[in-house]
Amino acid sequence: MLVLKRVEEVTLRILDVKRSGQRIAIVPTMGALHEGHLGLVDCAAKLADFVVVTIFVNPTQFAPTEDLSKYPRTLEGDLQALQARKVDLVFVPDETEIYPRGFSTIVEPPEIAKSLEGTFRPTHFRGVTTVVLKLLNIAQADVAVFGQKDFQQVAVICRMVVDLNVPCQIVVAPIARDPDGLAMSSRNRYLSPGDRQKALAIRRSLLKSRESILKTPGQSAAQITKRLLDELAAGGIHDIDYAVAVDPETLHPQATVAAPVAILIAARVGATRLIDNELIEAIE
Ligand code: PAJ
Repeated sequence: MLVLKRVEEVTLRILDVKRSGQRIAIVPTMGALHEGHLGLVDCAAKLADFVVVTIFVNPTQFAPTEDLSKYPRTLEGDLQALQARKVDLVFVPDETEIYPRGFSTIVEPPEIAKSLEGTFRPTHFRGVTTVVLKLLNIAQADVAVFGQKDFQQVAVICRMVVDLNVPCQIVVAPIARDPDGLAMSSRNRYLSPGDRQKALAIRRSLLKSRESILKTPGQSAAQITKRLLDELAAGGIHDIDYAVAVDPETLHPQATVAAPVAILIAARVGATRLIDNELIEAIE
């Protein structure tokens, strides 16, 4: 497993890989790797001959008020975990390698970036689209794997690669959860034991709504939101950015809720902002 810090070094290696006709997969991450990330890596290994993982805490997707400086950095452990998987190259650039002096081109995110996360983190997705396009270009990736955990992020990236004719297939991997149902996240480590218990209400509310939507199709979006909020409140979660049922492609709220539908939640538990979602693909 090669660990490279410079774009130029990656470019040279990738040139060889391309020349030999191998298919390249990329898994972009911000490190602090957990089984959720490693699931994406395993998925990538099944889809390509050469697997690139990137570890870069991207400053442009954090607002000045957000947790950039506190974002967990565990490079040594990350590299050990990747070593045990089928990874060929890990790209660990410094900030100046990705954003050198004079850098000023930004990828304007698509319309679907404006709602939900976009409302609460208005500059977030332009940081994501810009860095992801750069990483796809640097790795010359044929396929990129992202997690359903960040539902809107995947939708934004899928739209970007279509709109900008990026020759890279986007594959979505399922949400990895701890045994108690909490979606794995680098931020979970900041939850106190009490808050962690509270956080389980997020998954509970998603599953209850799923059941209700399947049992009684055609409920109003307001009814579903009320059910979600009630369940979250019962679990002690009151600081909620959104809890909504949306069309999985447009991310617009559904007037009457029926599958296919995505239920999306963002809420703060203690000081930690958590997101989770449930996709109901079709009536079972
Ligand atoms: P990060 O939060 O490190 O996540 C990297 C990838 O892992 C994303 O595709 C995310 O959806 C996925 N992931 C995180 N937790 C997961 C879980 N529990 N189950 C499945 N997949 C999970 O998302 C980012 O970094 C950044 O925005 C990035 C795309 C790297 C751009 O900087």
